[in-house]
Amino acid sequence: MKEGKVILECCGLRKRFGGLMVLNNISFQVPTGKITALIGPNGAGKTTVLNAITGVFPLDEGNILFKGHSLNGLKSFKVVECGIARTFQNVRIFPDMTVLDNVMVGCHAKTRSGFIDALLHLPAMRREETAIRQCSIEVIERLGISEKDTLAGSLSLVGQKKVEIARALASRPELLMLDEPASGLSGDETRQLAEALIEIGQEGITILLIEHDMNLVMGISDHVVVLNYGEKIADGPPESVQKNDRVLAAYLGC
Ligand SMILES: Nc1ncnc2c1ncn2[C@@H]1O[C@H](COP(=O)(O)OP(=O)(O)OP(=O)(O)O)[C@@H](O)[C@H]1O
Ligand SMILES: [Mg+2]
Repeated sequence: MKEGKVILECCGLRKRFGGLMVLNNISFQVPTGKITALIGPNGAGKTTVLNAITGVFPLDEGNILFKGHSLNGLKSFKVVECGIARTFQNVRIFPDMTVLDNVMVGCHAKTRSGFIDALLHLPAMRREETAIRQCSIEVIERLGISEKDTLAGSLSLVGQKKVEIARALASRPELLMLDEPASGLSGDETRQLAEALIEIGQEGITILLIEHDMNLVMGISDHVVVLNYGEKIADGPPESVQKNDRVLAAYLGC
């Protein structure tokens, strides 16, 4: 990709788990302000790329640049502070906490008050808490979640997925990475999700979307990167990737 600004650049990523080469020299760019989809059959290495970006484990080789700065070696919480938020393939929420409290956890990722402020309930801490509550309520409403005081664990799957997205957005990311947000959703729920993602994109947040639902991917993505068995096999606009022989072979298994 040559034109436009790039927010994230993965350069020559290599990761081996035991004898298995899970990422083999993966390079791609995520253009600023666009929706990029990272797709590929099961076990292709998609979640591993997200885990590498978010500092879940070190890479064997390669570099990840966010706005030109290397993320290598950063702990996950530092990656969030840089402006990257993610959701997980299996929803990770606090089921016994309310929706609002779940989302407020995301806001806390970027707050300035420290432990001592919190312990002593200093005015700065109280002001920050009020701002966090307000910001969380705004994000919850923006995603159309009506039950902010309900226990998150009692929501439907789509509700829980929205809570996870809201929590990620609450950290005010520049890059939002979603790992299979549509899995387990009905057609109607997936359409709702697509609208929400388009709106998030229109607000200037860059999205990196891992997804198996090809209608969703082809419907909302500006750019698609395809992995297969840890190799990148295609990278380009959705219409060209859709016709790519290697992609068709990977998906059809021929
Ligand atoms: N922590 C780990 N230890 C060992 N092997 C792992 C680990 N994480 C992933 N793998 C292996 O790496 C390969 C890629 O896994 P990954 O989860 O990245 O695939 P994926 O593209 O996200 O697949 P899916 O679409 O099924 O979610 C798989 O063979 C998986 O079993
Ligand atoms: Mg995965």
